Amino acid sequence: MTDSQSELSPELQVQAARKAFEKDIERFVRFGDPSKLDFDLETAETEERAFREIRVRHLGKKSELAASRKLIGRIAPEQRPAFGQLVQSNEDAIIQMADKIESDIKTYIESVRTERESIDVTMPGRRPRAGHRHPITLLRERVEDVFVALGYAIEDDREIETDFYNFDALNIPEHHPARASQDTFYTTEGFALRTQTSTVQIHAMQRRGVPVRMIAPGRVFRRDTPDPTHNPMFFQVEGLCVDRGITMAHLKGTVAEFLRRMFGPETVTRFRPSYFPFTEPSAEFDFSCFKCKGSGCRICKNSGWIELGGSGMVHPNVLRAVGVDPQKYSGFAFGLGIDRMCALMYELDDIRLLFENDVRFLEQFE
Ligand code: DAH
Repeated sequence: MTDSQSELSPELQVQAARKAFEKDIERFVRFGDPSKLDFDLETAETEERAFREIRVRHLGKKSELAASRKLIGRIAPEQRPAFGQLVQSNEDAIIQMADKIESDIKTYIESVRTERESIDVTMPGRRPRAGHRHPITLLRERVEDVFVALGYAIEDDREIETDFYNFDALNIPEHHPARASQDTFYTTEGFALRTQTSTVQIHAMQRRGVPVRMIAPGRVFRRDTPDPTHNPMFFQVEGLCVDRGITMAHLKGTVAEFLRRMFGPETVTRFRPSYFPFTEPSAEFDFSCFKCKGSGCRICKNSGWIELGGSGMVHPNVLRAVGVDPQKYSGFAFGLGIDRMCALMYELDDIRLLFENDVRFLEQFE
């Protein structure tokens, strides 16, 4: 009790206690009219705690009211009943107000909580920004569609290889320059990041045996310095067909049909003798420019032809490496770069754009 209050008469002390309570609860009275409030849950809960303290302050053991109650015994007997009633009625009033406010706050908190947890199913939804496939994926799927229609299976295999799959089984001799570390990335354990998807020929024949018809799209890695036409990671598609009596005519027919389905029925294909360790004979193939139809333009560098890939008849040593008898079986294989094809078709000046993942660039290829 403060000095100034202790000087007041007991009746005034009771009134002062009630006034002080009424002043303290002013800001909580608003909870009786929730339409005027827009507290969030956290604020409302803070207010609830604050009110609990106020209640203790005014009704607890150390409150003014409790002090007034103690005065009852010291009041002259004739005034005692009236004073006792005064204390009691004020206490009742304060308790009633406090209870009301407490229940108003609870009701308010409940309603905020319900509102927060409820969903308005009539609200328009937030549409997620739809992504789309990468241009290389789009092209890969077109290639896959063509070959699936020709009866080929799609193979997907590992990107980290042993020398056996990347080189030996593909008849790449010990001292072939492709084996040198300037071309191939090696892991610290001595595994090679595959430099070509031709590795999948070996896995596919080991897994499926022969006859086999498959294509294998996938990433390959080479220690090239990036420039507009090179990237140390790029994509190839490998093709393999092994059966009894497969000849170069099947190779030419298949590649020509593939290119017609990709670039239009008038597309012409041309084979040039070449060398690959895993094929004999070997040939590179070109197709007539899809833009100028062979008359010469910027895309085909005025030659009318676009170089696309390598191919040939599977070398007997490759068949032997997977236990296939080259006397009984023969086959053809081919490989081409998907990103190169992609750059040509979309007339990209720089192949690296495909791997920078700039959404503004990629968005153009839906
Ligand atoms: N692996 C070759 C390369 O990366 C492409 C290739 C050429 C694949 C001839 C073949 C093939 O299957 O028969 O350049």
